[in-house]
Amino acid sequence: MPSSLFSFAVVGVLLAVGVVAQIPGSNFKDFLLKNMVVNGTIPRSFAIQPVTYYETIPEDQKLHEYTEPQFVATCGGNVSADALNNYTFQTEVWLTTLGLNIYDGAIRCIALSLVGEGKACLNYTVETLVDHKTAQFGDIRGDKECAGVMEYGQCTDPQQAGVCGFCYGDGPSDAAKSLTVNNSYFFRLIGDFWAIEGTVDERCPALKRLWTWNDYKPILGENAWAQLIGPIHNAVLMNNGDINSITDEDPMFILGIQFLTGLEAMAVGNTGAYYYTPRNTWFGYSATAQNIGSTVSIENQASLLGGLKLLYDVINGKTTTQYKSVLPKLQSMITKLTTLILSAYDRDLGFFRQGFTYDPIAGTLNWGQNGEPLFAVDCQTWVSSVLGTRLIDTTFGDATAYNLWQTVKLYANYSCPNGDLCGVGYTFNNISGQVLSGEWTYGAMNWLKIMQNDSDYNSTLIGNLNSDELAMNYGLFTYVVTSTPINNSTESYDTVLYAGSRYWIPFGWFANPLPALASTGWAVMLANSFNPFHLHGYLVGAVADWKF
Ligand SMILES: *[C@@H]1O[C@H](CO)[C@@H](O)[C@H](O)[C@H]1NC(C)=O
Ligand SMILES: *[C@@H]1O[C@H](CO)[C@@H](O)[C@H](O)[C@H]1NC(C)=O
Ligand SMILES: *[C@@H]1O[C@H](CO)[C@@H](O)[C@H](O)[C@H]1NC(C)=O
Ligand SMILES: *[C@@H]1O[C@H](CO)[C@@H](O)[C@H](O)[C@H]1NC(C)=O
Ligand SMILES: *[C@@H]1O[C@H](CO)[C@@H](O)[C@H](O)[C@H]1NC(C)=O
Ligand SMILES: *[C@@H]1O[C@H](CO)[C@@H](O)[C@H](O)[C@H]1NC(C)=O
Ligand SMILES: *[C@@H]1O[C@H](CO)[C@@H](O)[C@H](O)[C@H]1NC(C)=O
Ligand SMILES: *[C@@H]1O[C@H](CO)[C@@H](O)[C@H](O)[C@H]1NC(C)=O
Ligand SMILES: *[C@@H]1O[C@H](CO)[C@@H](O)[C@H](O)[C@H]1NC(C)=O
Ligand SMILES: *[C@@H]1O[C@H](CO)[C@@H](O)[C@H](O)[C@H]1NC(C)=O
Ligand SMILES: *[C@@H]1O[C@H](CO)[C@@H](O)[C@H](O)[C@H]1NC(C)=O
Repeated sequence: MPSSLFSFAVVGVLLAVGVVAQIPGSNFKDFLLKNMVVNGTIPRSFAIQPVTYYETIPEDQKLHEYTEPQFVATCGGNVSADALNNYTFQTEVWLTTLGLNIYDGAIRCIALSLVGEGKACLNYTVETLVDHKTAQFGDIRGDKECAGVMEYGQCTDPQQAGVCGFCYGDGPSDAAKSLTVNNSYFFRLIGDFWAIEGTVDERCPALKRLWTWNDYKPILGENAWAQLIGPIHNAVLMNNGDINSITDEDPMFILGIQFLTGLEAMAVGNTGAYYYTPRNTWFGYSATAQNIGSTVSIENQASLLGGLKLLYDVINGKTTTQYKSVLPKLQSMITKLTTLILSAYDRDLGFFRQGFTYDPIAGTLNWGQNGEPLFAVDCQTWVSSVLGTRLIDTTFGDATAYNLWQTVKLYANYSCPNGDLCGVGYTFNNISGQVLSGEWTYGAMNWLKIMQNDSDYNSTLIGNLNSDELAMNYGLFTYVVTSTPINNSTESYDTVLYAGSRYWIPFGWFANPLPALASTGWAVMLANSFNPFHLHGYLVGAVADWKF
């Protein structure tokens, strides 16, 4: 893409031959538009390319999480650990082949809106999210009424049929913990099809049952992107940045305002935080997984804070709107949430911790979530992008944000063969080695762009940040920016792989070197220096202008 200086210099030539300069990142537009579920209605998070990718994964690159048999009602008895592990891989294959993570959907939306295809995003926002359905699923929200919390022994589900429902938060009764369809969280991963023809459920192959969709996790962070960040940028960009021309009927308000009611139910005591997921959400058989509904993810809080601030800025910025009355509530939420996120920073560790587990009876919290590492790259890059450099540095000392970036590199860099910085991974490198994350490297570049603009660092530090940003951009272009066929097409489409290699991320999923909506959408945002956490994409902390 021409730099802005270059386009200025040649503008006369361009006009002379009648060529209109393309919006940066437009080369990724076709991948974002055309990577749709085959015979379905929704975009697809990944393209399985090459089509034989999953057939080539060796056994030692699969998760072997089970060592004991478990009772599986649909199989009519206990299933061996070996069969359960096979099923885990089978599940990964189908969820990756057919699923859309609604966070990826939001990133796609923002990117399409930036390259002049906002209508495709609006279509998804209305037909899939507001209508909360896909081809075969009449409801993609976790709104089944709470019939008691299983972890507390209030409800049992011997047939594993989901009869206990979803219990949101710590309300005094099952009714108080039940959310209506419009207020509940969406499932983080949605699909068009429930049962996949031609498959055999590998837990009990002799029964010859089809593999069926099994991911029903209403997660906060994905919802913050799907219900706030994605639709709000779409509305602002489709109205050419003119907030007053966004109507009160816009889907950004339908989704965003209803979401606030759900959040109220999910408040974590008086901490200012919001729970990760309702109780009874199925995260596996382990003891920590039973407790997942009592946990909080700091990355999720950062996404939510960014989204709430966007909603605040739109409502506050509009001359007239029926939603002005929501401002005091938003104001209080934003203030408390910012304070909570700041408290995740540990001066001794020198980074923001990943999450905590809350005890609603004692009203106490313990840092750590679901046995996961305390250090996550996105808890530094996204959290710092939302807080902004000045707030971090005034709270924790001069150049804290800059030093935090040095810590991220020390723990989680991906280095090129010559040892230079080429990107970042997901967590401590000493857990399972280095990996290049497409999406999280763009997230780091976004943070460095913000730091260069919103800090008062001297030119030496700014120069270092700039050269790190460029080094990572080089790494991405070298290792994950590529082009791919879709649906066995002969044509190839520019795209960005999710990661440089297959890698078990200890936060609960595999990274794969597959063309991905998330990485590709982030590439478009970075090409436009568009920071998704700020209205109009400005390179400044989301709460930098907040009055506490
Ligand atoms: C792939 O198939 C889907 C749905 O069948 C379609 O929407 C999409 O445009 C196709 N992509 C290409 C590149 O043909
Ligand atoms: C898509 O639908 C067409 C027409 O029904 C069918 O022939 C084709 O096999 C389907 N493709 C897939 C991948 O399901
Ligand atoms: C089934 O597995 C459970 C462990 O999940 C075990 O406690 C139980 O004894 C097993 N039952 C049979 C019949 O093997
Ligand atoms: C698990 O899958 C492997 C092949 O991938 C197969 O050899 C084995 O029999 C399967 N185990 C069970 C219990 O089905
Ligand atoms: C969304 O796209 C589908 C398929 O192209 C079309 O039938 C539908 O009318 C569109 N909906 C909106 C709200 O634009
Ligand atoms: C849910 O919201 C839709 C608007 O998107 C509205 O038409 C519908 O009546 C609402 N349903 C309930 C139960 O409030
Ligand atoms: C990059 O990570 C490795 C560990 O994988 C570490 O030894 C090295 O110091 C890190 N590099 C920088 C510049 O922090
Ligand atoms: C990995 O590195 C971190 C930071 O130095 C350290 O706290 C942790 O104990 C290390 N973990 C392992 C398994 O070596
Ligand atoms: C720039 O700031 C850093 C951190 O405060 C400091 O160590 C360094 O000496 C400064 N460099 C110059 C040239 O002022
Ligand atoms: C692409 O080709 C593979 C193998 O040849 C086939 O299994 C798959 O269904 C094809 N995909 C589409 C969308 O036609
Ligand atoms: C840089 O930050 C200032 C506020 O400090 C903001 O007004 C400006 O829009 C930002 N620049 C860009 C390019 O986003």
